[in-house]
Amino acid sequence: MGKRVDDLMGWVDDRFPLTKMWEEHLSKYYAPKNFNFWYFFGSLALMVLVIQIVSGIFLAMFYKPDTALAFQSVEMSIMRDVEWGWLIRYFHSTGASAFFIVVYLHMYRALIYGSYKKPRELVWIFGVLIYLALMAEGFMGYLLPWGQMSFWGAQVILSLVGAIPFVGEDIGIWVRGDFVIGDATLNRFFALHIIAIPLVLLGLIVAHIIALHEVGSNNPDGVEIKKNKDENGIPKDGIPFHPYYTVKDIVGVVVFLMFFSFVVFFAPEMGGYFIEYANFEPADPLKTPAHIAPVWYFTPYYSILRAVPDKLGGVIAMGGAIVVLFFLPWLDRNPVKSFRYRSTMWKVLIALFVVSFLILGYLGMKAPTELFTNIARVCTIYYFAFFLLMPFYTRIEKNKPVPERVTMS
Ligand code: HEM
Repeated sequence: MGKRVDDLMGWVDDRFPLTKMWEEHLSKYYAPKNFNFWYFFGSLALMVLVIQIVSGIFLAMFYKPDTALAFQSVEMSIMRDVEWGWLIRYFHSTGASAFFIVVYLHMYRALIYGSYKKPRELVWIFGVLIYLALMAEGFMGYLLPWGQMSFWGAQVILSLVGAIPFVGEDIGIWVRGDFVIGDATLNRFFALHIIAIPLVLLGLIVAHIIALHEVGSNNPDGVEIKKNKDENGIPKDGIPFHPYYTVKDIVGVVVFLMFFSFVVFFAPEMGGYFIEYANFEPADPLKTPAHIAPVWYFTPYYSILRAVPDKLGGVIAMGGAIVVLFFLPWLDRNPVKSFRYRSTMWKVLIALFVVSFLILGYLGMKAPTELFTNIARVCTIYYFAFFLLMPFYTRIEKNKPVPERVTMS
């Protein structure tokens, strides 16, 4: 670098820890050298976050949070009148689903490699909080286009508040700001969706990464690379995040953008999964759609809700299904992190968990029949059994020997 640039950097560094932060988080952040496919999804989640914020800012310039204008402002102004408005909208609607796809894969990675275990419990807890905030963000954003599914989806979920004994009805009115979902509800959802929850999300994501960089990344072998350092104190199995993983992550970003663009340009509704067909009709409080289903990323929990015959019980089960995630670091008693060196039983249990979660997701989109409800009940029981019996079955597992150093395939 030229002397002038060095001088300028020196001037800045005397006043702000720019080089220090660059080194701490990038050029001297030593990440395990054996990251695989599953390690793309953290940086992809960051990228989707940027897509959502940038497209969201432009949407907010033309969107009108008023029950008389909202639907028109989306379907007429943004989709038809504003130049490239359709593209911005499809970026945002596709980004919402992409966010959940990426985050679900990111969470799955944490599960198979035991990334939630000591010393990364807080990384995991911040992650679950992010997941909760993301759900709130998705739920509130979905009301904004004021289509039939926006209205009736919110109606179903907000009516659950009414299940709380004694005070449920009053809390419902307080949350909606009215006796029914209306203008007050739309306005507050808008405020929460465009500023309050994004701020919380950003804060949590920063905390998530600070916590991760404090302890260092896990890896597909679940070996702590900090246990093997060279004479300079650098982990022998570590490589600087920049340039190695910045470059590698760009490959992930490019491949991701290929899939993402395909959906945006050729299948933005994704067969009714990313944008439900009923949402092309304006909200009509007097006309209940024949079949109300939440967007796909909520459907596993919706299934759990419906699997319990009692309304309050369903709400508790649905909430419990998420709350239990916070306790995962303490439910799993096996000291071995990666599933590579754990029992076949654990691998089978994880596979069954994934299958039952997918079945729950599928059933949540379908109208409940007796058969479907019974299947959902079995999957719900499995969901809870997987977590709540963990302290017992993870203690009797037969592990394989864990290598001293990371392995490369
Ligand atoms: C907006 C959402 C999220 C963003 C932007 C994000 C970002 C990141 C990034 C950049 C990393 C480091 C790279 C990597 O390991 O892939 C990471 C690691 C991690 N994240 Fe997330 N994350 C998000 C959501 C979540 C959620 C919902 C969970 C779990 C409930 C979670 C759990 C973890 C764990 C356990 C690690 C450490 C993984 C390891 O070292 O093996 N994250 N996250």
